[in-house]
Amino acid sequence: MKKLIGGNWKMNVNLDTISAMESFFEKITDYVDVFIAVPFIYLKECHEKFNNLIKPNIKLAAQDLSAYEDGTYTGQISARMLKDYSVEYVLIGHSEIRTFKYESNKLINEKLKIAIKYNIQPVLCIGETLTERESNGYLEYLKVQFEESTKNLEGCSFDIAYEPVWAIGTGKVAENDQISEVLIKIKGWMEIKKITGRCIYGGSVSSKNIDKLNDIKELDGYLVGNASLSEDFIKIISKSV
Ligand code: PGA
Repeated sequence: MKKLIGGNWKMNVNLDTISAMESFFEKITDYVDVFIAVPFIYLKECHEKFNNLIKPNIKLAAQDLSAYEDGTYTGQISARMLKDYSVEYVLIGHSEIRTFKYESNKLINEKLKIAIKYNIQPVLCIGETLTERESNGYLEYLKVQFEESTKNLEGCSFDIAYEPVWAIGTGKVAENDQISEVLIKIKGWMEIKKITGRCIYGGSVSSKNIDKLNDIKELDGYLVGNASLSEDFIKIISKSV
């Protein structure tokens, strides 16, 4: 199975920076599946740019979507709208959105169902905060996140990103044995529910720590934030093939 490497541009780009990054997409190898999670407002721009690249392995992703199909939901973006721009992946339950928008696992479960209905590959993000990690209750916390978010989704296919909140944007990458321990659990929970998909890690991934992370045999790829905005992303990809 090819590795899946996602770039999450968050709110860190504009038209100028997107144009400046164009040249480095050409350098992405075909031996990995790549998605770029773009702010909604630039999906059209990136849809056109990615279409012009002769790189079918680079897919367009959204950073979120509405749990509703359509209706009076000011400011929301639906799965149907994302399909208009050939969005193929969507991040669901990213910890920043869980925090800023007080998202519950129930809402995340509804978003997953909508994405699956519209054939957009969800990447469900789960991860514990430092408090849960330090209190040793992190595995139970992650299990609840997983179980509630995947309710009634037995037999479905989607990817899962394990992103410890304390490692996101902090430069503090989790240790290999910490990541392995959680991935083995997640893969076990997926198996019980017959959920198929890849398990990736996110949290301060960079070209400096990628060689060490690549030693984790349970890993199927990465979700990369800050480092996806520069040539570092190309290095991460080429070292992970
Ligand atoms: P980071 O972000 O690589 O900057 O830590 C990862 C993410 O938020 O997905």
